[in-house]
Amino acid sequence: MLPPSSFLLAASLLAALPVNADGIYTKKSPVLQVTGKDYNSLIANSNYTSIVEFYAPWCGHCQSLKPAYEKAAQNLNGLAKVAAINCDDDDNKPFCGQMGVQGFPTLKIVTPSKKPGKPRVEDYQGARTAKAIVDAVVDRIPNHVKRATDKDLDKWLGQNEERPKAILFTEKGTTSPLIRALAVDFLGAVDVAQVRNKELASVEKFGVSEFPTLVVVPGGGAEHQLYEGELKKQAMVEFLSKFATPNPDASGKAASSTNSKPKSKSKSKSSKSTSKPTFVPDDEPIVDANDESEAKPAQVPIPVPPLPTLATPESLESSCLAPKSGTCVLALLPEQGEALPAAATDALASLAEIAHKHAQRGTHLFPLYAVPEINSGSQTLRNALGLEDKQGVEIIAVNARRGWWRRYEAQDVYSAVAIERWVDAIRLGEGKKEKLPEGLVGAAEKAKEAEHDEL
Ligand SMILES: *[C@@H]1O[C@H](CO)[C@@H](O)[C@H](O)[C@H]1NC(C)=O
Repeated sequence: MLPPSSFLLAASLLAALPVNADGIYTKKSPVLQVTGKDYNSLIANSNYTSIVEFYAPWCGHCQSLKPAYEKAAQNLNGLAKVAAINCDDDDNKPFCGQMGVQGFPTLKIVTPSKKPGKPRVEDYQGARTAKAIVDAVVDRIPNHVKRATDKDLDKWLGQNEERPKAILFTEKGTTSPLIRALAVDFLGAVDVAQVRNKELASVEKFGVSEFPTLVVVPGGGAEHQLYEGELKKQAMVEFLSKFATPNPDASGKAASSTNSKPKSKSKSKSSKSTSKPTFVPDDEPIVDANDESEAKPAQVPIPVPPLPTLATPESLESSCLAPKSGTCVLALLPEQGEALPAAATDALASLAEIAHKHAQRGTHLFPLYAVPEINSGSQTLRNALGLEDKQGVEIIAVNARRGWWRRYEAQDVYSAVAIERWVDAIRLGEGKKEKLPEGLVGAAEKAKEAEHDEL
């Protein structure tokens, strides 16, 4: 059992670690940034499918996912929501916990169900490439599009007679992401159907001569209209908006008012831009196949684990000062009042970051520990090594088996970069080592034996 004071100490060390509230996505990013507060309104209550990344800014795998994720967001613009939530932000932590997030990045696909506000939430376990993410999300875009034939088109047109109808005439049998997304935008406001070119009676009835073509049948018996504009999401939303109001979270809406481009009749496939999805006739892939393909799924634990603390002389000895102990790095903490001095918290944060980085990469690093001043083992060590000034933090490396130690000497610079340089030098066996004074290694064990002898 540790004395109660060490729990307090551990708690204060945790609290002292700096919190990075800045996310990795800028305001200009195509990735929608959500919080624990607006998750319900933006994601859970949406009629759209979303993918949500739970991340922490310090997490390397999150940073390497960023380009692919932003590319996926660009490609899914107008089709689905691509969102991210910064779980390192104190305000979001409880929510990330509730969502069962155990590592970063965690990607979840949120698909609306029949029950409003109760979407299906599943972990995305696929490759961390734009293409794989886009494919998985596109698969889950809700399909409210009726597939009509000559036989049942009239019946479908007769339902909800006052409500406008949109019919996509197409050569394809599948329902494209774009038309599905359009139906989501106008869910309950415009009914959407798809009719194949081989349904000749319907093709003739509406005077369709090329495919694909979008036809609108306004409610209340008004004459149908052929859409002449580009078969792109935004332009199509604008057109349908003349007949009915799109739903609140219709994604083309906000953009269409500020961003509308002159319409052209050209449907050239070569006009693929990276920022806005081109109309993708049915089963054509949205992302080019020669997509970047690194990034195998990998997760890191949360939060940045603080340095383990050696709170007692026994734990210090068994971890680092036993005759067979290999290299250890110890942060000998200064005397503590209300809180640790800034230099000490910086040193702890930097060491935690270095340890974390190696853990993430899976590279071997000797153990790093915090040793509080109240641990009498720390005092013994300081005295033996001539580091008596207990106002300051000391970072040392010791190797009991080989009998050497080294001190981190860069006064007052406790950045991760500076400390890592020192750590790397030790890993490479560079630099001068001091001889570990006699009597430090295995001292507690010997003392115990002596005690037994006396009894
Ligand atoms: C979702 O669809 C319904 C119609 O089924 C609509 O009333 C509602 O406003 C839509 N929700 C959002 C957030 O757009």
